[in-house]
Amino acid sequence: MANNILKGKRGIIFGALDENSIAWKVALKAKEEGATFTLTNAPIAMRMGEIKKLATTCNAEIIPADATSIEDLENLFTQSQEILGGKLDFVLHSIGMSPNVRKGRSYGDLNYEWFLKTLDVSGISFHKVLQTAEKLDAINEWGSILALSYIAAQRTFPDYSDMAQAKAVLESIARSYGYRFGKSKKVRVNTISQSPTKTTAGTGVTGFDAFFEYADKMSPLGNASADDCANYIIMLFSDYTRLVTMQNLMHDGGFSSTGITEDIVEMISK
Ligand SMILES: NC(=O)c1ccc[n+]([C@@H]2O[C@H](COP(=O)([O-])OP(=O)(O)OC[C@H]3O[C@@H](n4cnc5c(N)ncnc54)[C@H](O)[C@@H]3O)[C@@H](O)[C@H]2O)c1
Repeated sequence: MANNILKGKRGIIFGALDENSIAWKVALKAKEEGATFTLTNAPIAMRMGEIKKLATTCNAEIIPADATSIEDLENLFTQSQEILGGKLDFVLHSIGMSPNVRKGRSYGDLNYEWFLKTLDVSGISFHKVLQTAEKLDAINEWGSILALSYIAAQRTFPDYSDMAQAKAVLESIARSYGYRFGKSKKVRVNTISQSPTKTTAGTGVTGFDAFFEYADKMSPLGNASADDCANYIIMLFSDYTRLVTMQNLMHDGGFSSTGITEDIVEMISK
């Protein structure tokens, strides 16, 4: 059902770890819609990952980069333009990791070294991506740069821990850099706040299954899947959304605007 809405567009996709990853689905759809792109992930994730399969399917080259390393990012943006034959039109930042969440530290007993790592990998890396892209003049006018967020940036979800702060930083960077990049190069910058999704990063949060079911019952349309998220991302990379910038866009089946649903009432009344 492709409509070639990314025909002729070039980009970089961060964060495809395995076939459940949101970035994986985006890569498949971007290819279908006529884009060419490079794939990237942290060097350590490549050794564990399956990204080569995706690269073969998408006819894309893989360029390893730790998103917290300016040197890696400069290499990534330079090489991507060489491989793809020009400046880029889209970038997907689909990256999240908290050592505190991973190692089960409670929010009242955070390791602060790890907290800084969470902020760097999951939040500040977005600034690093944007700053590197701008300094290298790597993005075409009307380009679109997106990162993935979660509603824990606005409301408390206890087990999301320090990732909540990282997402708040991420969304704030989209506004501040969106202003700057809009003025300087007519590039748009947004975040998408996605429903809980069954991926490696998602299921790493304690109590994910209950969390997932609760959100599903609290959303009139149900949870948004990774495939639906990929469709939304493709549209935001396309020319149909050229004036959308500096936004945190809810992609959650209605969860964020719902107070309570009959399903939840029924569940609690049992
Ligand atoms: N799964 C969910 O429930 C959910 C909900 C809302 C938002 N998100 C966000 O979606 C994005 C994608 O996550 P996902 O759910 O597809 O899970 P995922 O585990 O498939 O993807 C996370 C990716 O981040 C990469 N990464 C970690 N550290 C990195 C680093 N230093 N440099 C480069 N890459 C690094 C991992 O290798 C992995 O590919 C994340 O920002 C996540 O927070 C996920």
